[in-house]
Amino acid sequence: MRRKLVAGNWKMNLHWNEAMSLVSDLVKNEKDWNCDVLICPPSPYVRHTFEFLKNAKSAISVGAQDCASSTDGAFTGEISAGMLSSIGSSFVLVGHSERREYQGERGETLTKKLQHSIGAGIQPIFCCGEKLDERQSNNHFDVVQTQLEEALFAMSNEEISKCTIAYEPVWAIGTGETASPEQAQEMHSFIRDQVATKYGDDVASRIRILYGGSVNAGNAKELFGQQDIDGGLVGGASLKIDSFLQIIQSA
Ligand code: PGA
Repeated sequence: MRRKLVAGNWKMNLHWNEAMSLVSDLVKNEKDWNCDVLICPPSPYVRHTFEFLKNAKSAISVGAQDCASSTDGAFTGEISAGMLSSIGSSFVLVGHSERREYQGERGETLTKKLQHSIGAGIQPIFCCGEKLDERQSNNHFDVVQTQLEEALFAMSNEEISKCTIAYEPVWAIGTGETASPEQAQEMHSFIRDQVATKYGDDVASRIRILYGGSVNAGNAKELFGQQDIDGGLVGGASLKIDSFLQIIQSA
């Protein structure tokens, strides 16, 4: 039985005081939830968030939104997975569609990020998903399959068991338009089948596949009720305490 994961991706939002007040509100409202909860604040906030959660004996984890594709060296502005691990990050998003779009990340770069994060003891959440025109032209399965094959499927059997997948149709991210539960379930089941073909049924039945793209308090329950949806990667709705708590409670 897979335990659900609800992850908040804050992106480049919230200044320090706002961020810390959100973490504090989350901890104040923490209960024995039915899912794992993760927040991914901007990297400069990771250390303090980690310490705050630790001191509060919170079960909430903290993660980063990206890591470098190298381990160390002359890469101005980059932050390695090892550094993130050393400041308390236990997860990292890899291949988010915004990084694919604005930084041109794909293929080997993402494979390195996955491998370095696993090497540093951080669990990567590998993001994939098609754009609107790709769905409209009925190429969405091919696009997602290619994204899996050119990065995630370079992982060994041992490595893949440390990975989580997030399916995030680009047309649903930040648009208010969500994939229907049926559309999401169809793709999640396809992704699980791809994992089964590559790594076997046992690995496929254990890997968590999150849905992301305009998850909100109103649609989370139905999405999370689908057989192959193991939680959510939540952007906008994770920035407000009420909506994020309702999403967590929907899991
Ligand atoms: P959204 O973002 O929930 O605001 O659509 C999700 C994401 O990009 O991870």
